[in-house]
Amino acid sequence: MSGQDRLGWFQGDAAACQPPQAGSGRAWRLVLLGAPGVGKGTQAQLLHERLGACQLSTGDLFRAARGQDPCQLTPALAEAVACMQRGELVPDTTVLALIRERRNCLRCRGGFLLDGFPRTLPQAQALDELLAREQVALDAVLSYEMPLELIVERLGGRRTCTQCKAVYHVVTRPPQKAGVCDLCGGTLFQREDDKPETIRVRMQTYLQSTAPLIDYYERQGLLRRVDANGSPEEVLQRTLTLLHDGRSV
Ligand code: AP5
Repeated sequence: MSGQDRLGWFQGDAAACQPPQAGSGRAWRLVLLGAPGVGKGTQAQLLHERLGACQLSTGDLFRAARGQDPCQLTPALAEAVACMQRGELVPDTTVLALIRERRNCLRCRGGFLLDGFPRTLPQAQALDELLAREQVALDAVLSYEMPLELIVERLGGRRTCTQCKAVYHVVTRPPQKAGVCDLCGGTLFQREDDKPETIRVRMQTYLQSTAPLIDYYERQGLLRRVDANGSPEEVLQRTLTLLHDGRSV
């Protein structure tokens, strides 16, 4: 996470942002797809360390809004926070308005790692239009795949840093000191939407709304399927191997 400024992502295009150094000498523009808890956020952090591009997570954006004074939230953001707590998708209009306010992140010379966006067909089509307008193209869409019952186990043990959003697991990726982030010393918390009943809603929503994007990107020739079983480092190596088609990563 170090060097991941992301001010532009959290505060919008008016924020002065320090573009990341392209760790691999080129700007990667990637979308990470996959069911809730499959490990997209974990891979995005690891890919950021290897490739330099910033992790742009719409879930992190909505969680940041939840931490604000409710009186300061616009009605659309307040509705978004309520949807998230129920495990439902935030309406496309709200998500797309937020993305449009963050256009600079899409044209960033450091590239980007989109984590959790797009999540519906209209969002994917809107992203295509935005990227075409910025004259940039996706390099690949990474689809992380694993049986749903194994994913649910991962969600139960997840802990997230209140400050830098780094992700841990109490068994498979514990912090050095329980409850404390290795990277910034922030306090770790368990997400509200990791309760079993909310996880069920999120999985159902994923199957209905997001899984069809796999076909969408396959038809565009961008899809790379990644087996998400194994340690985070093993999954990272698989990802880098898939991305490595003669270019230095
Ligand atoms: P979001 O934050 O995007 O959540 P999600 O898609 O449900 O994905 P998660 O963050 O739960 O999981 P992940 O795949 O990143 O897994 P992680 O790396 O943490 O969205 C939250 C909500 O916001 C949505 O439900 C929706 O309401 C709303 N929203 C967001 N974007 C939206 C959009 N575009 N449109 C509409 N609504 C939107 O890993 C999980 C755990 O497993 C961790 O503990 C981790 O340490 C562990 N782990 C990871 N990899 C491994 C491994 N290889 N081996 C063992 N353990 C591992």
